[in-house]
Amino acid sequence: MTVTAEHVKALVRRHIEGDDEGFYSVAMQLAARAAREGKNHFAQDLRELVESAQAPRAASQLRPIPLAQPRGELAGLMSVTYPDVSLSSMTLAGDVLEKLERVLLEQRQRDRLAEHGLEPIHRLLLLGSPGTGKSMSAAALAHDLSVPLFTIQLDALMSKYMGETAGKLRLVFDAVAATRAVYLFDEFDAIGAERTAGNDVGEARRVLNSFLQFVEHASPDSLVVAATNHPQLLDRALYRRFDQVIEYDLPDSVVAVEIIRKRLSQLDTSAISWDAVAEETSGLSQADVVRAAEAAAKQVLLRGRGRLATSDLTSALRERRRAGDD
Ligand SMILES: Nc1ncnc2c1ncn2[C@@H]1O[C@H](COP(=O)(O)OP(=O)(O)OP(=O)(O)O)[C@@H](O)[C@H]1O
Ligand SMILES: [Mg+2]
Repeated sequence: MTVTAEHVKALVRRHIEGDDEGFYSVAMQLAARAAREGKNHFAQDLRELVESAQAPRAASQLRPIPLAQPRGELAGLMSVTYPDVSLSSMTLAGDVLEKLERVLLEQRQRDRLAEHGLEPIHRLLLLGSPGTGKSMSAAALAHDLSVPLFTIQLDALMSKYMGETAGKLRLVFDAVAATRAVYLFDEFDAIGAERTAGNDVGEARRVLNSFLQFVEHASPDSLVVAATNHPQLLDRALYRRFDQVIEYDLPDSVVAVEIIRKRLSQLDTSAISWDAVAEETSGLSQADVVRAAEAAAKQVLLRGRGRLATSDLTSALRERRRAGDD
C-alpha cells in the first residue's frame, strides 16, 4: 500500500497542533491498514515505533508528580491531581465544546502565537448551575494538555484577615508563573462577588482588586479557571478580565441521552427505548443523569440480570428528579 495523502496531512496537522495522542493514533491507523493489506513488516515496525515512543512518555508523565506537589504555605492553599478524563469523554453542547477546543488549540500552539506577540487564551470563567460539568471541564483541559490540575482551596485562601488573603493570592499566582498547570478557583464567587453591604466592604474590595491585578498579569502558559454557579453575584469588572467566558446549561434531551449511553456502554442496552428515557431527563443536570444511569446499572448488576430495561432507567431518572425537588 502507499501512504495516502490524507494520512500524511492528518499526521502533519496533529504535529502542528502539538496533539501527540492524535499523532500516534493516526500512525496506528496507518499500521492497521498496512496489516490489512498484508504489509506485515511495515505494520509491525510502525506499531513498535509508536509503542516505544509512547512508553517513555508515559513514564515521564508520571515523574513530575512529586515535583509539582505544592510545598510550604502553598500546600495548605491548593491540592494537586492528575485527572484522567479527557474532553472527548465528555458530552458537551456544541458551543461549549467549540470554546474548550479553541483553548486547547491555542495552548498547544502558544509558541507559534508568541512569535507574533500573541497570547493564547489562558483565563477562563465558567458559569452554570451545579453538576453541569464545570469542574470536569477544568480536569479535562489539564488532562488533554498533560499538565497537573491545582484546585485552590478558597476557604483556606479567604482568611479572616483580608490582608493575608492578598498575600496568599500572590503565592498562588507565583505558582501559576512557575509551574505550567491548570489552576481552578472553584466557587469563585467567594472572591468575585460584588460587595454592596456589610462592614468588610473595603477589605473585600481590596481582595477582589488584587485578584484582578494578578489575573491581568498571569502567565499565559498556565490556565487560570474560575468557576461559579452564582454568576449574578459576580462583579461586572471581572468579565472583562477573562479571555473566555463559558456558560454551562442543563443538558437538552439529546445530550442527556448521549451521556447516559456513554456511561452504560459496557452493559446491554439493546432493549432500551431511548425516546422514553429522553422524556424523563428534563430539568436534570449532567451530574443527575450520570447518577441515575449508575443507579440503574447497579440495580441490574446486583440482581444478576444481564440487560437493562427502559423502566430501570426511567424510574432512576424520576427518583433523581424527586431528590432534586426536596
Ligand atoms: N459534559 C459532561 N459529560 C459527561 N458527564 C458529565 C458532564 N458534565 C458533568 N458530568 C458528570 O457530572 C459530574 C459533576 O460534574 P462537575 O463536578 O463538573 O459539575 P460542576 O459544574 O463543577 O458542579 P458544581 O457547580 O456543583 O461544582 C461529573 O463528575 C460527571 O460525572
Ligand atoms: Mg464544580
